[in-house]
Amino acid sequence: MTPLLEVRDLRMYYTGRRGDVRAVDGVSFSVAGGGRALGIVGESGSGKSSLAAAIMRMLPGNVSHFEGEVLLEGQEVSRLPEHVFHREIRWRRIAWVPQGAMNAFNPVIRVGEQIIEPLLVDGHVDRGAARARAEALLEQVGLPPEIYQRYPHELSGGMKQRAMIASALIMSPSLVLMDEPTSALDVSVQAQIMNLLKRLKCELQIAIVFITHDIAVASDVCDDMAVMYAGEMVELGSAEQVLLTPAHPYTQMLLASIPRLRASEMPQFIPGAPPDLQEPPPGCRFHPRCPHAMARCRESPPPAFSPRPGQWARCWLR
Ligand SMILES: Nc1ncnc2c1ncn2[C@@H]1O[C@H](COP(=O)(O)OP(=O)(O)OP(=O)(O)O)[C@@H](O)[C@H]1O
Ligand code: SF4
Ligand SMILES: [Mg+2]
Repeated sequence: MTPLLEVRDLRMYYTGRRGDVRAVDGVSFSVAGGGRALGIVGESGSGKSSLAAAIMRMLPGNVSHFEGEVLLEGQEVSRLPEHVFHREIRWRRIAWVPQGAMNAFNPVIRVGEQIIEPLLVDGHVDRGAARARAEALLEQVGLPPEIYQRYPHELSGGMKQRAMIASALIMSPSLVLMDEPTSALDVSVQAQIMNLLKRLKCELQIAIVFITHDIAVASDVCDDMAVMYAGEMVELGSAEQVLLTPAHPYTQMLLASIPRLRASEMPQFIPGAPPDLQEPPPGCRFHPRCPHAMARCRESPPPAFSPRPGQWARCWLR
Protein backbone atom coordinates (compact mmCIF):
# COMPACT_ATOMS: atom_id res chain seq x y z
CA MET A 1 0.00 0.00 0.00
CA THR A 2 1.25 3.52 -0.79
CA PRO A 3 2.43 5.20 2.41
CA LEU A 4 0.93 8.52 3.41
CA LEU A 5 4.37 10.14 3.55
CA GLU A 6 7.58 8.85 2.08
CA VAL A 7 10.86 10.71 2.43
CA ARG A 8 13.72 9.50 0.22
CA ASP A 9 17.35 10.49 0.67
CA LEU A 10 16.50 14.02 1.83
CA ARG A 11 19.42 16.41 2.25
CA MET A 12 19.40 19.96 3.54
CA TYR A 13 22.60 21.84 4.27
CA TYR A 14 23.07 25.37 5.61
CA THR A 15 25.89 27.71 4.70
CA GLY A 16 28.30 27.76 7.64
CA ARG A 17 31.46 29.73 8.25
CA ARG A 18 33.69 26.75 7.54
CA GLY A 19 31.57 25.03 4.91
CA ASP A 20 28.15 23.41 4.70
CA VAL A 21 26.32 22.43 7.90
CA ARG A 22 25.00 18.99 6.94
CA ALA A 23 21.88 19.17 9.11
CA VAL A 24 19.82 16.62 7.14
CA ASP A 25 22.06 14.21 5.29
CA GLY A 26 20.40 11.45 3.32
CA VAL A 27 17.34 10.78 5.50
CA SER A 28 14.74 8.23 4.34
CA PHE A 29 11.62 7.03 6.14
CA SER A 30 7.89 6.64 5.65
CA VAL A 31 4.67 7.06 7.61
CA ALA A 32 2.18 4.35 6.73
CA GLY A 33 -1.08 6.18 7.22
CA GLY A 34 -3.59 7.93 9.43
CA GLY A 35 -4.01 7.07 13.08
CA ARG A 36 -0.29 6.39 13.55
CA ALA A 37 2.45 8.42 15.17
CA LEU A 38 6.12 8.23 14.22
CA GLY A 39 8.52 9.54 16.84
CA ILE A 40 11.75 11.14 15.64
CA VAL A 41 14.19 11.30 18.54
CA GLY A 42 17.76 12.46 18.91
CA GLU A 43 20.00 14.80 20.86
CA SER A 44 19.94 18.56 20.39
CA GLY A 45 21.46 19.52 17.05
CA SER A 46 20.84 16.15 15.38
CA GLY A 47 18.76 17.82 12.65
CA LYS A 48 15.20 17.03 13.77
CA SER A 49 13.78 20.53 13.27
CA SER A 50 15.72 20.93 10.02
CA LEU A 51 14.11 17.73 8.77
CA ALA A 52 10.62 19.08 9.56
CA ALA A 53 11.44 22.41 7.90
CA ALA A 54 12.70 20.56 4.83
CA ILE A 55 9.47 18.51 4.55
CA MET A 56 7.39 21.70 4.93
CA ARG A 57 9.73 23.54 2.55
CA MET A 58 10.02 26.37 5.08
CA LEU A 59 13.68 26.87 4.30
CA PRO A 60 15.77 29.58 5.98
CA GLY A 61 17.59 31.96 3.61
CA ASN A 62 20.97 30.35 4.22
CA VAL A 63 20.10 26.88 2.90
CA SER A 64 22.89 25.95 0.49
CA HIS A 65 21.73 22.53 -0.63
CA PHE A 66 18.30 20.90 -0.78
CA GLU A 67 17.63 17.61 -2.54
CA GLY A 68 15.80 14.33 -2.22
CA GLU A 69 12.19 13.33 -2.60
CA VAL A 70 9.11 13.84 -0.45
CA LEU A 71 6.10 11.84 -1.60
CA LEU A 72 2.66 12.47 -0.22
CA GLU A 73 0.30 9.59 -1.03
CA GLY A 74 2.68 8.73 -3.86
CA GLN A 75 2.88 12.28 -5.28
CA GLU A 76 6.32 13.92 -5.32
CA VAL A 77 5.82 17.33 -3.70
CA SER A 78 9.32 18.62 -2.93
CA ARG A 79 9.81 19.98 -6.43
CA LEU A 80 6.35 21.46 -6.99
CA PRO A 81 6.42 25.20 -7.78
CA GLU A 82 6.24 27.12 -4.49
CA HIS A 83 2.81 28.65 -5.22
CA VAL A 84 1.36 25.18 -5.95
CA PHE A 85 2.96 23.67 -2.82
CA HIS A 86 1.62 26.54 -0.73
CA ARG A 87 -1.89 26.37 -2.20
CA GLU A 88 -2.31 22.59 -2.18
CA ILE A 89 0.05 20.99 0.31
CA ARG A 90 1.35 23.22 3.14
CA TRP A 91 -1.20 23.42 6.02
CA ARG A 92 -3.87 21.81 3.83
CA ARG A 93 -2.33 18.30 3.69
CA ILE A 94 0.72 18.58 5.92
CA ALA A 95 0.62 20.90 8.90
CA TRP A 96 3.41 21.82 11.27
CA VAL A 97 3.58 22.85 14.90
CA PRO A 98 7.10 24.31 14.89
CA GLN A 99 9.41 24.12 17.90
CA GLY A 100 8.50 26.95 20.33
CA ALA A 101 5.35 27.67 18.29
CA MET A 102 3.21 28.50 21.31
CA ASN A 103 5.21 31.68 21.70
CA ALA A 104 4.75 32.55 18.04
CA PHE A 105 1.18 33.86 18.37
CA ASN A 106 0.98 37.54 17.45
CA PRO A 107 0.35 39.27 20.82
CA VAL A 108 -2.00 41.93 19.43
CA ILE A 109 -4.35 39.68 17.44
CA ARG A 110 -7.06 37.56 19.06
CA VAL A 111 -6.23 33.85 19.15
CA GLY A 112 -9.24 32.81 17.06
CA GLU A 113 -8.44 35.32 14.32
CA GLN A 114 -4.98 33.78 14.04
CA ILE A 115 -6.37 30.24 13.92
CA ILE A 116 -8.75 30.97 11.02
CA GLU A 117 -6.23 32.91 8.91
CA PRO A 118 -5.39 30.06 6.49
CA LEU A 119 -9.11 29.33 5.97
CA LEU A 120 -9.76 32.91 4.86
CA VAL A 121 -6.77 33.21 2.54
CA ASP A 122 -8.30 31.48 -0.48
CA GLY A 123 -11.70 33.10 0.06
CA HIS A 124 -13.74 29.87 -0.09
CA VAL A 125 -14.93 30.11 3.52
CA ASP A 126 -16.71 33.12 5.02
CA ARG A 127 -15.70 34.49 8.41
CA GLY A 128 -18.76 33.10 10.25
CA ALA A 129 -18.17 29.56 9.03
CA ALA A 130 -14.45 29.86 9.77
CA ARG A 131 -15.20 30.98 13.31
CA ALA A 132 -17.62 28.09 13.86
CA ARG A 133 -14.95 25.65 12.65
CA ALA A 134 -12.30 27.21 14.92
CA GLU A 135 -14.61 27.09 17.96
CA ALA A 136 -15.41 23.43 17.30
CA LEU A 137 -11.69 22.68 17.02
CA LEU A 138 -10.93 24.58 20.23
CA GLU A 139 -13.42 22.33 21.99
CA GLN A 140 -11.87 19.27 20.38
CA VAL A 141 -8.47 20.20 21.81
CA GLY A 142 -10.01 20.71 25.25
CA LEU A 143 -10.42 24.50 25.33
CA PRO A 144 -13.64 26.48 25.83
CA PRO A 145 -14.77 28.15 22.58
CA GLU A 146 -14.54 31.58 24.31
CA ILE A 147 -10.78 31.29 23.85
CA TYR A 148 -11.46 32.46 20.29
CA GLN A 149 -11.85 36.02 21.59
CA ARG A 150 -8.85 36.00 23.92
CA TYR A 151 -5.42 37.49 23.33
CA PRO A 152 -2.40 35.15 23.56
CA HIS A 153 -1.17 36.69 26.85
CA GLU A 154 -4.44 35.66 28.52
CA LEU A 155 -3.64 31.96 27.95
CA SER A 156 -1.36 29.69 29.98
CA GLY A 157 1.44 27.78 28.24
CA GLY A 158 -0.62 24.59 28.01
CA MET A 159 -3.63 26.51 26.62
CA LYS A 160 -1.43 28.19 24.02
CA GLN A 161 -0.02 24.83 22.94
CA ARG A 162 -3.56 23.43 22.59
CA ALA A 163 -4.56 26.51 20.56
CA MET A 164 -1.48 25.99 18.37
CA ILE A 165 -2.56 22.38 17.78
CA ALA A 166 -6.06 23.62 16.85
CA SER A 167 -4.42 26.07 14.47
CA ALA A 168 -2.46 23.26 12.78
CA LEU A 169 -5.69 21.26 12.36
CA ILE A 170 -7.79 24.06 10.86
CA MET A 171 -7.36 22.89 7.24
CA SER A 172 -8.00 19.22 8.17
CA PRO A 173 -4.53 17.97 7.19
CA SER A 174 -3.86 14.24 7.04
CA LEU A 175 -0.41 14.64 8.60
CA VAL A 176 0.86 16.94 11.34
CA LEU A 177 4.54 17.42 12.16
CA MET A 178 4.87 18.34 15.84
CA ASP A 179 8.26 19.61 16.89
CA GLU A 180 8.88 19.35 20.65
CA PRO A 181 5.19 20.07 21.40
CA THR A 182 5.60 19.46 25.12
CA SER A 183 9.16 20.54 25.88
CA ALA A 184 8.41 23.96 27.33
CA LEU A 185 5.57 22.71 29.54
CA ASP A 186 5.59 21.43 33.09
CA VAL A 187 5.16 17.69 33.59
CA SER A 188 1.43 17.59 34.37
CA VAL A 189 0.54 19.83 31.40
CA GLN A 190 2.90 17.75 29.27
CA ALA A 191 0.89 14.63 30.20
CA GLN A 192 -2.37 16.37 29.26
CA ILE A 193 -1.00 17.31 25.84
CA MET A 194 0.22 13.74 25.28
CA ASN A 195 -3.26 12.44 26.10
CA LEU A 196 -4.74 14.98 23.69
CA LEU A 197 -2.43 13.80 20.89
CA LYS A 198 -3.37 10.17 21.52
CA ARG A 199 -7.06 11.12 21.33
CA LEU A 200 -6.69 13.22 18.17
CA LYS A 201 -4.73 10.46 16.47
CA CYS A 202 -7.67 8.08 16.95
CA GLU A 203 -10.60 10.49 16.60
CA LEU A 204 -9.37 12.33 13.51
CA GLN A 205 -7.31 9.46 12.07
CA ILE A 206 -4.47 11.89 11.43
CA ALA A 207 -0.86 10.80 11.21
CA ILE A 208 1.58 12.51 13.56
CA VAL A 209 5.32 12.92 13.25
CA PHE A 210 6.33 13.61 16.84
CA ILE A 211 9.77 15.20 17.15
CA THR A 212 11.48 15.20 20.52
CA HIS A 213 14.86 14.91 22.22
CA ASP A 214 13.12 12.82 24.91
CA ILE A 215 12.77 9.15 23.95
CA ALA A 216 10.70 8.46 27.08
CA VAL A 217 8.10 11.07 26.07
CA ALA A 218 8.02 9.72 22.50
CA SER A 219 7.37 6.20 23.76
CA ASP A 220 4.09 7.39 25.28
CA VAL A 221 2.38 8.29 22.00
CA CYS A 222 4.36 6.74 19.15
CA ASP A 223 3.62 3.57 17.22
CA ASP A 224 6.90 3.77 15.32
CA MET A 225 10.20 5.30 16.29
CA ALA A 226 13.14 6.73 14.34
CA VAL A 227 16.44 7.79 15.84
CA MET A 228 18.53 10.63 14.39
CA TYR A 229 22.20 11.22 15.02
CA ALA A 230 24.27 14.03 13.49
CA GLY A 231 21.97 14.67 10.53
CA GLU A 232 21.39 11.00 9.72
CA MET A 233 18.68 8.52 10.62
CA VAL A 234 20.44 5.62 12.32
CA GLU A 235 17.56 3.37 13.33
CA LEU A 236 13.87 2.90 12.60
CA GLY A 237 11.30 0.35 13.67
CA SER A 238 8.09 -0.10 15.58
CA ALA A 239 8.17 1.60 18.97
CA GLU A 240 8.24 -1.83 20.58
CA GLN A 241 11.25 -2.94 18.53
CA VAL A 242 13.25 0.23 19.06
CA LEU A 243 12.47 0.42 22.77
CA LEU A 244 12.81 -3.27 23.65
CA THR A 245 15.36 -4.57 21.13
CA PRO A 246 17.32 -1.52 19.94
CA ALA A 247 19.87 -2.49 17.29
CA HIS A 248 22.03 0.65 17.11
CA PRO A 249 24.51 1.39 19.91
CA TYR A 250 23.36 5.03 20.01
CA THR A 251 19.73 3.97 20.56
CA GLN A 252 20.89 1.54 23.25
CA MET A 253 22.80 4.32 24.99
CA LEU A 254 19.88 6.77 24.70
CA LEU A 255 17.65 4.20 26.39
CA ALA A 256 20.22 3.49 29.08
CA SER A 257 20.32 7.23 29.86
CA ILE A 258 16.65 7.28 30.97
CA PRO A 259 16.42 7.31 34.79
CA ARG A 260 14.39 4.38 36.19
CA LEU A 261 12.35 4.58 39.33
CA ARG A 262 13.14 1.17 40.80
CA ALA A 263 16.36 0.12 39.11
CA SER A 264 19.46 -0.19 41.26
CA GLU A 265 21.84 1.00 38.52
CA MET A 266 22.32 4.70 37.77
CA PRO A 267 21.35 6.11 34.36
CA GLN A 268 24.26 5.95 31.89
CA PHE A 269 25.44 9.11 30.18
CA ILE A 270 26.60 9.14 26.58
CA PRO A 271 30.23 10.29 26.69
CA GLY A 272 31.43 13.14 24.50
CA ALA A 273 29.30 15.54 22.47
CA PRO A 274 27.53 15.42 19.12
CA PRO A 275 29.91 16.26 16.24
CA ASP A 276 30.30 19.50 14.33
CA LEU A 277 28.06 19.06 11.29
CA GLN A 278 30.44 21.17 9.19
CA GLU A 279 33.07 18.46 9.62
CA PRO A 280 31.28 15.28 10.65
CA PRO A 281 33.56 12.33 11.51
CA PRO A 282 34.34 10.02 8.56
CA GLY A 283 32.79 6.57 8.46
CA CYS A 284 30.14 6.14 11.12
CA ARG A 285 29.43 9.58 12.60
CA PHE A 286 28.91 8.00 16.01
CA HIS A 287 32.31 6.32 16.11
CA PRO A 288 34.08 8.84 18.42
CA ARG A 289 31.46 8.08 21.12
CA CYS A 290 30.74 4.42 20.43
CA PRO A 291 32.12 1.79 22.84
CA HIS A 292 32.05 -0.80 20.02
CA ALA A 293 33.91 1.26 17.40
CA MET A 294 36.22 -0.79 15.13
CA ALA A 295 38.69 0.27 12.43
CA ARG A 296 36.02 -0.20 9.76
CA CYS A 297 33.70 2.22 11.61
CA ARG A 298 36.27 5.02 11.22
CA GLU A 299 36.66 4.41 7.50
CA SER A 300 33.31 3.68 5.85
CA PRO A 301 29.74 4.73 6.55
CA PRO A 302 27.84 1.66 7.77
CA PRO A 303 25.09 0.22 5.57
CA ALA A 304 21.60 -0.42 6.90
CA PHE A 305 20.77 -3.90 8.12
CA SER A 306 17.49 -5.35 9.29
CA PRO A 307 17.63 -7.30 12.56
CA ARG A 308 13.96 -8.24 12.18
CA PRO A 309 11.13 -7.38 9.77
CA GLY A 310 10.13 -3.73 10.07
CA GLN A 311 13.29 -2.62 11.87
CA TRP A 312 16.59 -1.37 10.44
CA ALA A 313 19.75 0.24 11.78
CA ARG A 314 22.95 1.62 10.26
CA CYS A 315 25.82 -0.09 12.02
CA TRP A 316 28.72 -2.37 11.15
CA LEU A 317 27.76 -4.59 14.11
CA ARG A 318 25.11 -6.80 12.61
N1 LIG B 1 19.49 28.51 10.02
C1 LIG B 1 20.57 27.80 10.34
N2 LIG B 1 21.80 28.13 9.88
C2 LIG B 1 22.90 27.41 10.14
N3 LIG B 1 22.89 26.30 10.91
C3 LIG B 1 21.71 25.90 11.41
C4 LIG B 1 20.49 26.63 11.16
N4 LIG B 1 19.48 26.00 11.83
C5 LIG B 1 20.04 24.92 12.44
N5 LIG B 1 21.38 24.87 12.20
C6 LIG B 1 22.31 23.84 12.63
O1 LIG B 1 21.88 22.62 12.05
C7 LIG B 1 22.04 21.54 12.96
C8 LIG B 1 20.72 20.86 13.22
O2 LIG B 1 19.89 21.79 13.91
P1 LIG B 1 18.37 21.46 14.27
O3 LIG B 1 17.81 22.68 14.89
O4 LIG B 1 17.69 20.93 13.07
O5 LIG B 1 18.56 20.31 15.35
P2 LIG B 1 17.49 19.71 16.39
O6 LIG B 1 17.72 18.24 16.39
O7 LIG B 1 16.14 20.20 16.05
O8 LIG B 1 17.98 20.30 17.77
P3 LIG B 1 17.11 20.71 19.09
O9 LIG B 1 16.81 19.41 19.81
O10 LIG B 1 18.04 21.56 19.87
O11 LIG B 1 15.89 21.42 18.64
C9 LIG B 1 22.71 22.15 14.20
O12 LIG B 1 24.09 21.98 14.07
C10 LIG B 1 22.32 23.60 14.13
O13 LIG B 1 23.29 24.41 14.75
S1 SF4 C 1 29.14 1.42 12.97
FE1 SF4 C 1 30.69 1.11 14.50
S2 SF4 C 1 30.96 3.09 15.53
FE2 SF4 C 1 29.03 3.13 14.40
S3 SF4 C 1 27.52 2.56 15.88
FE3 SF4 C 1 28.09 0.69 14.81
S4 SF4 C 1 29.76 -0.18 16.03
FE4 SF4 C 1 29.51 1.92 16.73
MG1 LIG D 1 14.75 21.27 17.11
